Amino acid sequence: MIEPDKYCSKCERLKGFRDINIKKYPEWFNGAVPSIINKNSEILIVGLAPGLNGANKTGRPFTGDHAGLTLFHTLEKHDFLDGNYKEDGKDNLKLKNCSITNAVRCVPPKNLPKSNEIKNCENFLKSTISIHKNLKVIVALGLISHKSIISTFNLKQKDYKFGHSNKHNLSKKIKLLDSYHCSRYNINTKRLTQSMFDKIFIEANKIILN
Ligand code: URA
Repeated sequence: MIEPDKYCSKCERLKGFRDINIKKYPEWFNGAVPSIINKNSEILIVGLAPGLNGANKTGRPFTGDHAGLTLFHTLEKHDFLDGNYKEDGKDNLKLKNCSITNAVRCVPPKNLPKSNEIKNCENFLKSTISIHKNLKVIVALGLISHKSIISTFNLKQKDYKFGHSNKHNLSKKIKLLDSYHCSRYNINTKRLTQSMFDKIFIEANKIILN
């Protein structure tokens, strides 16, 4: 499997941002955040990119920020999580039948990666997907991750519209399930409610059982 180096320098801007953060917060992880991988998983969740005070600090996707609270709580509710989750990552969290990665592995300024940075990271996403031999459903959190996934499957963007709860066939075996991102902003503005997010994992469970 191809994984980015912790200090990957493919993206000049992201490397520059990392160098600033290393000086400002030397005790933080400050690197390309590795995925949480269970190779036998039937579900893979693809987020956007590490949050500055979350995954970039703790070194684990979604760990330490508001989006993580929502995601891990929801995964627990739908039986994809064992153990407990702590915001500092010093816990015994274990995903069940589930892996989590990000479309972009390094924290971008203002949470917004540029298109060349998304492109630069695509091979890592492709490789992460390909090691999951039992994969049945990929959950895309937000439009950027949706587009990245479509691109890694060499499909035409225009044939695959993003929308909350939209479902697409990526291959004979793998479906894409779209969700609005569980960011603090989307939760606070009620663009994404807990019951909308629950629906995604109820559907994911149905796909897996099929
Ligand atoms: N943390 C992540 O790792 N990814 C996101 O998309 C948001 C927060």
